[in-house]
Amino acid sequence: MSGKGQMRLGAFFNPTGHHVASWRHPRAQADAGINFQHYLDITRTAERGKFDMVFLADNLGVRSAHMEALSRSAQYIANFEPITLLSALATHTSHIGLVATASTSYNEPFHVARKFASLDHLSDGRAGWNLVTSGQENEAYNFSREKHYEHAERYDRAREFARVVIGLWDTWDDDAFVRDKETGQFFHPEGLHNLNHRGKYFSVLGALNIPRSPQGYPVIVQAGGSDDMIGVAAEFAEVIFCAPLTLQAAQRFYATLKDRLATHGRAPEAMKIMPGLSPVVGRTDAEALENYQYLNSLIHPVVAREILSMVLGNIDLAPYPFDGPLPDNLPRTNASVGIFQEVTAMARRENLTIRQVATRVAGARAKAVVHGSPQTIADMMEEWFHKDGCDGFNIMPPFLPGALDDFVDLVIPELQRRSLFRTEYEGRTLRDNLGLKRPTSRHASNASTGTTEPRSQRAATGG
Ligand SMILES: Cc1cc2nc3c(=O)[nH]c(=O)nc-3n(C[C@H](O)[C@H](O)[C@H](O)COP(=O)(O)O)c2cc1C
Repeated sequence: MSGKGQMRLGAFFNPTGHHVASWRHPRAQADAGINFQHYLDITRTAERGKFDMVFLADNLGVRSAHMEALSRSAQYIANFEPITLLSALATHTSHIGLVATASTSYNEPFHVARKFASLDHLSDGRAGWNLVTSGQENEAYNFSREKHYEHAERYDRAREFARVVIGLWDTWDDDAFVRDKETGQFFHPEGLHNLNHRGKYFSVLGALNIPRSPQGYPVIVQAGGSDDMIGVAAEFAEVIFCAPLTLQAAQRFYATLKDRLATHGRAPEAMKIMPGLSPVVGRTDAEALENYQYLNSLIHPVVAREILSMVLGNIDLAPYPFDGPLPDNLPRTNASVGIFQEVTAMARRENLTIRQVATRVAGARAKAVVHGSPQTIADMMEEWFHKDGCDGFNIMPPFLPGALDDFVDLVIPELQRRSLFRTEYEGRTLRDNLGLKRPTSRHASNASTGTTEPRSQRAATGG
C-alpha cells in the first residue's frame, strides 16, 4: 500500500463518448459536439460525482483519413473549440476543474498564456492547460506549413513554448493592481515585469495583458508517453495524461517520471499521473461483458482498420491480411513512439490478429479498457493506484451521457465506500483539489505577497 491518500479523477469528454462507435449507441447524444446542453448536463453529472476536472482533447483540423472510414466516425470532426466551451461551462459550475488541450506545435505562447489566464479568472481558479505536441501531420497544412515538425523538434519547441507561457503568467505581481479611485493609481509600476524572451522559436516581449490568475498559473497538464515527452514533463507538468495498457507498463512509466522530477528539484507529489481508462459498467460482470460486446458490434471493420492504422502512425495496413498477425517489422513513422510500442507489444504478447488488435484498439482508441461490475472496476482501479501505477485516472466514458451516469451512480459510491475517493471537494481551486501548491512568481522576492515554490517551476527565460 502506497500511502498516497485518495485518487484523483478526471472526466475525459470526447463529445459522444470515447468508444469509436459511441455515437451510434442508444444512450449517446449523436450531435453532442455542438450541443451545449449536453456538455452542461455531463459536466454537472461529473461535478455531482466530485470529479477533480473535466478534460477536453483537441485537434486542429479534421484528420486526413480513408473517406469511407471517416464518414462513419464522430471523433474530432464536428465539435466546439475547447477553451470557448469551458468558458461557458465555468459560469454554470462551482468546483470542478476545467482542462482544455492546446497544442504547442500550432499556437503562439502569448495566445495560450492569455486564454488560460482568462479561463482561470472566469472560473475562479479552476483552469488547466493540457500541453500537447500535435501528433497529426495534417494539422501542419492548416498553419501555412508544408510539413509537420519532427518528433524531437516538436518537444524542443514545446519546452521553449512552456517556458514562455509560464514567464508570461509571471508578468504581474499578485498585488500589482490597486485600482485606487482616490489617488488615481490603477496599478503599481513595480508590479509589472516584461518577459523579454528571445529564443530559438519565439521572441516575446510581454507584458501579458491580464492580471496574475487565481491559481498563480493554471494547472499544467501534459499528454504523451515517449522519452522526449518525459523530458519536458519532468520540468513543467503537474498532471500527466498517459496511455499505458497494462499495470506493468503503468508502473514503469510512473517510476521513470517520478524519478526524473528530482532532476528539476521537484518532489514526487508535485505531479499527479493519471492514465486514461475507459470503463464499461454493468450491474454484474456478465452484464458488463454484454455491454462491451454490444459496443464493439457497432464498429464498422473499415473504421477499426483505419483507427489502428492511425494509432500506429498512419501505416497502411491494407497490404496485410485482416485475419493474419500484426507484422513485427511495421514501418516507423513520425507519430507517437509511446503508443506504437504499447500496441505492438500487446499484439505480440497475446498473439492477436490485425482484426482483433483493430477492434480492441479502435474501441478504446489505444487507451486501457475495463469492463465489469462496480466492484470489478473498483478492484482494478485500486490495484493500479496502490501498486504505484498511477495517482488516479482520466475516466473516458465509452458513450455519453449514459456511461458517465453509470460510473457516477455505480462506481463512484464503491470507490467512496473503500475511502479511495472524496465525498466532498476539499478546496475551491483545481490546485486545492488536486493537492498542488500555488506557484510563486519568479519575481516574488520583489513582491509583497507570495509563497515559495521550487525554482524549477519557474521559467528560465526572460528578464
Ligand atoms: C493520452 C494522450 C492524449 C493526447 N491528447 C492529445 C490531444 O488532445 N491533442 C493532440 O493534438 N495531441 C494529443 N496527444 C498527442 C501527444 O501530445 C503527442 O503528440 C503524441 O503522444 C506523440 O508524442 P509521444 O511519442 O511522446 O507519445 C495525446 C497523447 C496521449 C498519449
